[in-house]
Amino acid sequence: MPDSVTITDNRTGESFEIPIVDGGVDASEWRNNLPGLWFLDPGFTTTASTESAITELDGANGILRYRGYPIEQLAEHSTFLEVCYLLINGELPNQQQLDKWIYDVTHHTFIHENMRKRFYEGFHYDAHPMGMLVSAIAALSTFYPEAKNIEDPINRLIQINRLISKGPTLAAMAYRASIGMPFVYPDNELNYAENFLSMMWKIAEPRYIPDPVLSRALDVLLILHADHEQNCSTTALRVIGSSHADPYSSVAGATAGLYGPRHGGANEAVIHMLRDIGSYENVESFIETVKGGDGRLMGFGHRVYKAYDPRARIVKDHAEEVFKVTGKNPLLDIALKLEEIALEDDYFKSRNLYPNVDFYTGLIYQAMNFPMDMFTVLFAIGRMPGWLAHWNEAIEANVRISRPRQVYVGPSERNYVPVSERD
Ligand code: ACO
Repeated sequence: MPDSVTITDNRTGESFEIPIVDGGVDASEWRNNLPGLWFLDPGFTTTASTESAITELDGANGILRYRGYPIEQLAEHSTFLEVCYLLINGELPNQQQLDKWIYDVTHHTFIHENMRKRFYEGFHYDAHPMGMLVSAIAALSTFYPEAKNIEDPINRLIQINRLISKGPTLAAMAYRASIGMPFVYPDNELNYAENFLSMMWKIAEPRYIPDPVLSRALDVLLILHADHEQNCSTTALRVIGSSHADPYSSVAGATAGLYGPRHGGANEAVIHMLRDIGSYENVESFIETVKGGDGRLMGFGHRVYKAYDPRARIVKDHAEEVFKVTGKNPLLDIALKLEEIALEDDYFKSRNLYPNVDFYTGLIYQAMNFPMDMFTVLFAIGRMPGWLAHWNEAIEANVRISRPRQVYVGPSERNYVPVSERD
């Protein structure tokens, strides 16, 4: 049997054959044979928007690999900065490359004083840190106007380095601004996760050194969030980047995409849901409400995974380690019960709804004292290398500008009516 599909246009009786390559078909074959006949695919459920060599996601079997390396191995043996290098450069670094990369990231964590003094102080006292982060990342483009020179690969790497280095600084600054605390400068003696925790929590001590279990857990969570191929925020970034906007503007757009509760905001929504449920005894009635169409089980379901999200499994294992240090999050029992019931329930089983990465991350973040409105910010810090790897890949491949078509369903032509003659 040939590896192809044959399409017959019943209007003309003409047939044409499209080869199946890498499990799909090339839409340009369709376009060439059936000009003017569009696919309608809202939400891109069937459309592959790009070729990419960064992340392999097999949703049916719950497999996630960065550049070929299984997420389980990276979470166990690697560090977030090594994973950043891997995602961006395509290969794991040797010792010398790793040392240089860590040095470069560590020594570009400071941001211009105007950002702190003028920019952050301009926000309303109760501004959401994600809103601040989106704006702050976009504002950085004005400090680095040379970032517009996206054709130069060395210049691109400089901006990538800056964004990975400064992400935690901007994020911690958003938090400190939101609670009216003075900003803590980066500490170059600490590793990436430790430095972020120091900028978040340091008060008057000469040096803030977090518990190693907590900084390692945070590092692992960052690894798990580092990339997830063509999700909503990465697609937003690729679309913006395809216009050749600078990387800060493109990443700001991606961060805005992440903000929503259906994407990166789900970890915050899970905690709201668990609090609303309130107690173990209310879990079953809550599940019934969801099945009745009233609301969703947040942290469940995924467009691509139709099996258990492998990241959720790793997060669940790390939660135990974290709770040994912080004490158990009282919402954990509700979450475990929800998962247990949902995994046995036909409604969830028939729709392939399993816990996604967000189901347990919020519980860890909360146990580590992060306020809820910082959860998505943590996601953004983790996703930064993935966004930048995709941005770099798309620029290198010189992809065409994104410009989907639409099926127009509005009124046909009609004549303008002066306001005095309208009903
Ligand atoms: N709870 C209850 N029912 C659900 C859920 C859920 N969490 N998710 C999907 N369903 C149901 C839908 O009601 C629908 O049922 P129907 O066929 O009877 O109408 C069916 O499952 C398919 O759902 P869709 O919305 O079509 O699935 P889609 O792929 O468009 O949405 C999404 C995926 C947005 C993740 C969805 O599952 C959801 O809203 N989940 C909760 C939010 C969440 O956890 N988001 C985080 C995703 S992971 C991430 O971004 C890091």
